[in-house]
Amino acid sequence: MHMKAKVIDVEYEQPEGASCSTHHAWARVPAEPAPEERAALKARIRELLRQENAVMVSHYYVHPDLQDLAEETGGIVSDSLEMARFGRDHAAHTLVVSGVRFMGETAKILSPDKRILMPDLDATCSLDLGCPITEFSAFCDAHPDRTVVVYANTSAAVKARSDWLVTSSCALDIVRALKDQGQKILWAPDRHLGSYIERETGADMVMWRGSCIVHDEFKGFELELLKKEHPRAKVLVHPESPAAVIALADAVGSTSGILKAAQEMDAPQFIVATDKGMMHKLRKLNPGKVFYEAPTAGSSATCKSCAHCPWMAMNSLAGVLHVLETGANEISVDAALIPRARVPIDRMLAFTAALKAGRPVGSLVPDIGAA
Ligand code: 13P
Ligand code: SF4
Repeated sequence: MHMKAKVIDVEYEQPEGASCSTHHAWARVPAEPAPEERAALKARIRELLRQENAVMVSHYYVHPDLQDLAEETGGIVSDSLEMARFGRDHAAHTLVVSGVRFMGETAKILSPDKRILMPDLDATCSLDLGCPITEFSAFCDAHPDRTVVVYANTSAAVKARSDWLVTSSCALDIVRALKDQGQKILWAPDRHLGSYIERETGADMVMWRGSCIVHDEFKGFELELLKKEHPRAKVLVHPESPAAVIALADAVGSTSGILKAAQEMDAPQFIVATDKGMMHKLRKLNPGKVFYEAPTAGSSATCKSCAHCPWMAMNSLAGVLHVLETGANEISVDAALIPRARVPIDRMLAFTAALKAGRPVGSLVPDIGAA
């Protein structure tokens, strides 16, 4: 039997002065351009990407225009793991990262010589905000016998304090391999993903208790009702969701995992528990299938229950054009942190590359496990 996880409580607080009157309380949501303006913005961005030797790296949760344009111009739209790998391996001098800040920072840590631009530097993540380095460091110090595994949605300083980085697409495999080597885990910051991994692997984990403000809002009870309405629908869930939602899933995975499951599963309908930005790619790649959003409303619904990340929503065509034209919003990471922060990221990338190539991964773990 594995130990029940111990947890550290951290609450994310809405910044002072934020209002709930708009559908995103504290982010600047750019206005939708008119059709002619959209076409002009795209044309100018294409031109500047060539001129600046730049490539777009977009996440599935950003505006469909930024997903499509990235792909049309030789860039990528993907989950956070593949964004990191693509940015590291691409020859372009400038990466325009449409997503949230930790994604830009990861790109910079992996490619310190590249220029990393983001449409809005205030686009952050509740998991990153809820895991400040001072408290996290004290938590690590209190558990010196544990291998420190942190989620990608963290600051460069937290990464630099960790042994392993994981994303939702590889967390299970990495923790399972660590457990097989007899390592005990200190996990941060997402409590739902951590609990899911603990249930699946039986690893001995102590946990930080952060959460994603978007996925935390999905509701198990209402999902059961929706499943009854659509009995043929399969349920696809991102593991940042609460346990009651994960328990109803036919497939649990990262954003890329959800996309793959929708393509591979022989079902006419799907209920999807992740940010609604994902719907664009799901519908585009599966024109014959129907996708429903998993419910966020219910008796405990709040102003955050809109299933769209307020920070992802800050990315826009106008923002991309602005940074390409001016060089504004360049990501910088403390140079002293970069070599140490790179260690856990490199471990993750080496592990996942071996896994993908069908090479044995067990041997990677003792060599590169906790010091
Ligand atoms: P993925 O790695 O699954 O793309 O997740 C990133 C994220 O921020 C999910 O909320
Ligand atoms: Fe962070 Fe959640 Fe937004 Fe992803 S969706 S960036 S985990 S707040």
